[in-house]
Amino acid sequence: MNKTIANEIEDLREKIRKYDYNYYVLDTPLVSDQEYDQLMNKLESLEQANPQLITADSPTQRVGGTPLAKFNPVIHQVPLLSLANAFGEQDLKDWHRRIVSAVGEKVEYVVEPKIDGLSIALTYEMGNFAIGATRGDGEVGEDITLNLKTINNLPLKLTAPIPKLIVRGEAYLPKEEFARINSEKEELGEPLFANPRNAAAGSLRQLDPKVAAARRLRIFVYALLDQEGMPVDSHEESLVELAKLGFPVNKERKLCQSIEEVAAYCAQWIDKRHQLPFEIDGMVVKVNSLAQQQQLGYTAKSPRWAVAFKFPADQGESTIEDIFVRVGRTGVVTPTAVLTPVQLAGTTVSRATLHNQDFINEKDIKIGDKVIVQKAGDIIPEVVRVLTEKRDGSERPYQIPAVCPECGSPVGRQEGEAAFRCTGATCPAQAREGIIHFVSRNAMDIEGLGPQVVAQLIDGGLIKDAADLYQLTTQQLVGLERMGAKSSENLVNAIGRSKSRGLSQLLFALGIRHVGAGAAKALAKRFTSMDKLMTADFDEIESIPDIGPKIAASIKAFFENNNNVDLITRLKASGVGMEETIAKDYEANVQLLRNKTFVVTGTLPTLSRKEASDLIEVNGGKVASSVSKNTDYLLAGEKAGSKLTKAQELGINIITEKELFSLLEN
Ligand code: IVH
Repeated sequence: MNKTIANEIEDLREKIRKYDYNYYVLDTPLVSDQEYDQLMNKLESLEQANPQLITADSPTQRVGGTPLAKFNPVIHQVPLLSLANAFGEQDLKDWHRRIVSAVGEKVEYVVEPKIDGLSIALTYEMGNFAIGATRGDGEVGEDITLNLKTINNLPLKLTAPIPKLIVRGEAYLPKEEFARINSEKEELGEPLFANPRNAAAGSLRQLDPKVAAARRLRIFVYALLDQEGMPVDSHEESLVELAKLGFPVNKERKLCQSIEEVAAYCAQWIDKRHQLPFEIDGMVVKVNSLAQQQQLGYTAKSPRWAVAFKFPADQGESTIEDIFVRVGRTGVVTPTAVLTPVQLAGTTVSRATLHNQDFINEKDIKIGDKVIVQKAGDIIPEVVRVLTEKRDGSERPYQIPAVCPECGSPVGRQEGEAAFRCTGATCPAQAREGIIHFVSRNAMDIEGLGPQVVAQLIDGGLIKDAADLYQLTTQQLVGLERMGAKSSENLVNAIGRSKSRGLSQLLFALGIRHVGAGAAKALAKRFTSMDKLMTADFDEIESIPDIGPKIAASIKAFFENNNNVDLITRLKASGVGMEETIAKDYEANVQLLRNKTFVVTGTLPTLSRKEASDLIEVNGGKVASSVSKNTDYLLAGEKAGSKLTKAQELGINIITEKELFSLLEN
C-alpha cells in the first residue's frame, strides 16, 4: 500500500484530534476555524480517494451512515447504579457519620457538580471508542454508539492504548444550545423541550445520527467503572488519569478533608451554578479512596460511598400583570406574560413565554393570576402553575388577538398547528425579526449588529430590509445611540465582510420556511450558485438527499414571490456573494472527485449534461467525451446508447444522477 498517503492521513488525524481536544475539552482553540476546516477537508478528500484507509476512529467518522431501525440492547458489564439523595446540611452530616463508623478512619471526599443530562456508559478497547450505551434500567441499556460518536468532545481514540476501559458520564446540552433549539422550535410552531435533560435524551434517542449531530451535545466523564491496564487508588486520581487520556472531566470539583468543607462547597454552588454554561441540579459527594469505597460497598440501588446533594428548587411566586404578543420572523405570534419582578436562578425575571393559546388554556392562565414561576434549563422563565386558590374573581381570561398588533393583518391558525400566525406580507415585526435572523451568527454573522441596533436602524428609517444594510455609511451610524466613530466603522466593516459568507449561509439567512442550516448547505453544495437554484424546478430540488417535498415546495414559493427576487437582486448589486464558497474550497482542498474521470451520457432526470459536467468539475473531477479504460464512472441517464454498451463491456462503474449526488455527500 502507498505508505506515504497512509502516513499523511494518520498525521492529519492526529492533528485534528489535538485541535478537537484543545477546542472542545480545554476550551482553548489552537487554530482558526478556517485552518481547521481545511485540514478536515483534506482528510476527507484523502479518505474518499482511499476508502480502504478509513478507520472507525477517524475524525471524519463522527456522523455515521444510515438511520437505524431500532436501538439494540446492551447488557452493562458493571451495573449503572443511581445515587441516594441528601437534602441540606443535616442529611450530609448524617451520611458522613455512617461512613466514618463503617470505615473507622479519616475519610477524604471529592465533591463535583451533578450534571443534569443523560447518563451514559462508554467502553473503549485498546484506546478506541467501541460501545456507548444509555443507562436504561441500570442492567440493560440501549446501544447509542452512533449518536454518541457525533459528540465533539467525546474522544474516539484515547491518548494511550489502554486494553480496556469502561467509564460513566453524562451527555448534556449546554444552556445556550438548549435555548437555541427551543427558540427554533417555537418559530416553527413545534412543541418545546421542557428542560435540557429532556432535550439531550430526545436528541440521543433519535435513530438518525444526523439529528444528534445537529444538536451540539457535550459530555462529562465522572466515573471509572472498569479497567485493564490503568490502576488507580482514588477517585481523584482516576479523574486526573481520564483527563490525560483525553476525556472531558469537570474542573469544578474539590477534594475536601472534612464534611464541613463538603457542606460549604455544596452551599457555595446553590447560587454559583447559574454562572455555569450547563445545568446542574446538585453536587455529588464521593469517598475518594477506592479501598474505602470497596469497604463501604453498595445497597441494592446505589453505592454507600456516594450521595447526591440536591439543590432546593428554584421557584418563585409572581403575578401575571399583563399578556402581550411578540411576532416572530415567520409570523408566529407568541403570547408573553408580564410578571411582577421576581428573583430566580440568579436574575430578575419579569417576562415568561406562554408559548401559545393551548398552553394558556391547559394551565388556565388569566391576567391577574398569582403563579409559580421557574426557569426551564436555568434560562427560560416559565409559568409552572396557577395558584387558583389565591384568585379573588378579578382575574381576566386571555385570548390571542385576532389581528396582528404590529400590522393589523388577520392572525390565523393552520390545521394541526399550535401556533397562531400573522398573515401580513409586509408586517414590520416580521421584517425586523427577519433582519435579526439575517445577521445572526449561523447566518451572515455580522458582529455588532444586535437586535437593539436593528430596531434603531429601522425606527430611524435607515433600513427596511436586509439589502439596505449594505448601503449603510459610517456617517449614518454615528448618529445612533451608543454608536461612536469607531464602532460605526467596525460595523460597516463587519457588514462588508459578510458579503463573502457564501451561498449556504446566505440561503439560511434568507429565512426561507423549513430551510435550516443543514438544508441550506445541501442546496448550496448541489446548486453552487443562487441563479442555478432560482431556476431549478421542484423535482431537481426534491431529488437532493435530505430535502423533502415540504422544503422543495417552500423554496419554489419563496422564489416565486417578486419581493424576494427583488431582495436578492439588490443584495447581488451590493456585492453579496451568490456562489458557494465551500464549492470553491473543494476545488482547492476537498476535491471529492479528484482524479476521477467521468463520461456523461443520456438524459438525466434533473440535470442537463452541461450542468452535470460543471458539477463534476467544480468538485475536482474530469469530464471526457468518450469511454475508455481510463474512465472511472459513466454517468448514465435515459436513452443512453453506445457509451453505455462500451462501459458495460469494459466493466466501468455506471452510476445514476442520484448516485452522483451521493458521491458528493460527505
Ligand atoms: S456518580 C455509581 N457523578 O446523577 C456512580 N453521577 O441521581 C453513580 N450524575 O444517574 C453516579 N453528574 O446520571 C455521578 N458527577 C456525577 C454526576 C452523576 C450527574 C447523574 C447520573 C446518575 C444520577 C444519580
